[in-house]
Amino acid sequence: MLNKFNLRGSKKENDASHLFDSTQIPSHIAIIMDGNGRWAKKRGLPRIAGHKEGMDVVKKMVRESDRLGVQVLTLYAFSTENWKRPKTEVDFLMKLPEQFLTSYLEELIENNVRVEVMGDAQQLPRGTVKAIETAISRTSENDGMILNFALNYGSRHELTDAVKQIISDVQADQLTVNDIDESIISSYLLTKQYPDPDLLIRTSGEIRLSNFLLWQLAYTELWFTDVLWPDFTEEHLGEAIAHFARRHRRFGSVNN
Ligand code: IPE
Ligand code: IPE
Ligand code: MG
Repeated sequence: MLNKFNLRGSKKENDASHLFDSTQIPSHIAIIMDGNGRWAKKRGLPRIAGHKEGMDVVKKMVRESDRLGVQVLTLYAFSTENWKRPKTEVDFLMKLPEQFLTSYLEELIENNVRVEVMGDAQQLPRGTVKAIETAISRTSENDGMILNFALNYGSRHELTDAVKQIISDVQADQLTVNDIDESIISSYLLTKQYPDPDLLIRTSGEIRLSNFLLWQLAYTELWFTDVLWPDFTEEHLGEAIAHFARRHRRFGSVNN
């Protein structure tokens, strides 16, 4: 895919894009936005205050990624395991997409950003589903950056569903066992329309994947930072991209 700077908006003081050039921008960045709870705890605030603050960082990162020319930004917003949290926190997290999408949709439309959401929609509250449907349909003609939220997403759940669907297609004679290869499997995943992430960022110091994109991250460059998500800035994003730009991706070969 073509990388390009998309210098929409003015350069900021903390802009780190001098650390890499426009050809080195990852086409697809995936982010595990972690550390909201700890950010709030450090300030003696309830965990939900961290989630609220984190939402503003999402807006900043969408703007910055779009400005840099990232083509797909996938954000892990709620995992299939996050239902284990206290109900008040889950309820708050479930309302955030609606708040985000209603307060920010016009800007997304204006900036030609296309909103997509992957995950199991069945357990989500009606208002959340409605806000998502509106955002998806109102941005469906946009052909700029794709903003893809992983919401009630779990990689093992996604792979389990893919296996079931493949078996059912084989049974219905739409696919033969010999047809099944890596690209067929990828085509049964929720990410089928995107290239695999080039760069994965996880904030908050945890060095694990927490059930995120297990298949798709096979050759992704991984970048972990201790910065908590609500403290994550454009400069940190630039730093991650600068590290990515210096990495030598070999994909198993010796000379590329
Ligand atoms: C990430 O922050 C947001 C979600 C998982 C929804 P956390 O809520 O996990 O924050 P910590 O990890 O407890 O600090
Ligand atoms: C991963 O963070 C999920 C999201 C960021 C949405 P968690 O905070 O849920 O992950 P664990 O529990 O630390 O592995
Ligand atoms: Mg966490």
